[in-house]
Amino acid sequence: MTYAGYSQALEPPGYDEELAKVGPGTPCGEFFRRYWHPVAIVADVGELPSAVRILGEDLVLFRTSGGEFGLVHKQCPHRRASLEFGKCEARGIRCCYHGWLFAPDGEILETPGEAGDAEPAIEVRKRTRLGAYPVREYGGLVFAYLGPPGEQPPFSEFDASYVPGITMRNYRINYSCNWLQVLDAIMDPIHTSFLHSQNAGAQFSEGMAEIGELEIFERGLQFVGSNTRRVDDYVWVRVNELILPNFTQAGAAFQADGTRSHYFGRSSFTRWVVPVDDSHCVALAWANFGDRGDPIEYNTQEGCEMIEQGEIVDRPWEERQRRPADAEAVEGMGPISAHKGENLMPTDRGVSLYRRRIRRLVRDLQDGKPVPRQQQIDGQPVRTYGQDSVMKMPAKPGIDDRRFLKQLGRDVMNMQFEAEPKPLDERDATIIEALKQIEASAQ
Ligand code: FES
Ligand SMILES: [Fe+2]
Repeated sequence: MTYAGYSQALEPPGYDEELAKVGPGTPCGEFFRRYWHPVAIVADVGELPSAVRILGEDLVLFRTSGGEFGLVHKQCPHRRASLEFGKCEARGIRCCYHGWLFAPDGEILETPGEAGDAEPAIEVRKRTRLGAYPVREYGGLVFAYLGPPGEQPPFSEFDASYVPGITMRNYRINYSCNWLQVLDAIMDPIHTSFLHSQNAGAQFSEGMAEIGELEIFERGLQFVGSNTRRVDDYVWVRVNELILPNFTQAGAAFQADGTRSHYFGRSSFTRWVVPVDDSHCVALAWANFGDRGDPIEYNTQEGCEMIEQGEIVDRPWEERQRRPADAEAVEGMGPISAHKGENLMPTDRGVSLYRRRIRRLVRDLQDGKPVPRQQQIDGQPVRTYGQDSVMKMPAKPGIDDRRFLKQLGRDVMNMQFEAEPKPLDERDATIIEALKQIEASAQ
């Protein structure tokens, strides 16, 4: 065996620039700029403007005194003062330096140092605008579209905001690393059995230590990864999902544990992983509480942090070493992971699949092909699958249980895909009923 330190130090592996770079004009940055992304939590936007960095752009988010949001370039087009020091007024934001007033769409409304009818003032209003982006509120988050105006897609709502009996709580977690590192984890369900379970004890439930039968379904922009485990007499189908470019859901963190029946319980979080720049990203999300979400006692800031990554965020370094969670795993790779030094295994299939698909879409866009939509049905909320379904189905003597689990995972997901076109409430009722029937048939 030859020690490899010296040669590997001479030739450190590089990173995947095509996917990791998201600034203006980069191929993947352009791809991201064809979809709506959350940029802030509505409740965090007060009477003062806030600096927001998204996709490598320095922006300022503000709210007029009339309640309208504006997301604009940070630098004033007069002499580049920062609008972070601007004043929010009824019609827009006023620059602190010479008082120019800008509407939320970037129009220059006033240049008070110049006479209103002076030629240069009229000229500048005609010739230029403050850079601005369309914004809208959804699910307690402020969403923005940072792409070319002619290619703005309709805003997609998600079924997650229509589940009856769910209480939502918004949260954000900042990550000091590239967005791919954080997104990868959702397509890597097996890390739950190690990082969150076997490594230092259960961060979620004991049953998650069981290694299940993994299956990945690719449907348009949607990747659905089912993990079907046995926990004693129960079969637990836990589903992670990713809708490109960056929407994620998973099963519950604490509600389902494989020890009692649970039918089409929904995701603990509804979450977007948004690139801040090439070496930072932010998870902007809401957590879902209720019978079909996580237990209501987790409806706190700390609860959301545990749901997001298995441990609270602000911990002593030694504790982070003893009980690492997602932040330690993904930030520990460095600001941008050296992808070319990875050795992907069969259990990394989900990661390879979605990266390959993004790469295809990024290249298609460069070749002039429009990006696909997230909705399955135009004008309707996107149907998502992040969930836990647990059924009492004891192992049968003489039957290969691993094969049984694999087939059951497939059958459960195919049944749900068939129900997709139904109206939302009917679709949920149909899935829940079918799960109960599957369970009854095993008794
Ligand atoms: S720099 Fe903003 S008004 Fe002059
Ligand atoms: Fe995780």
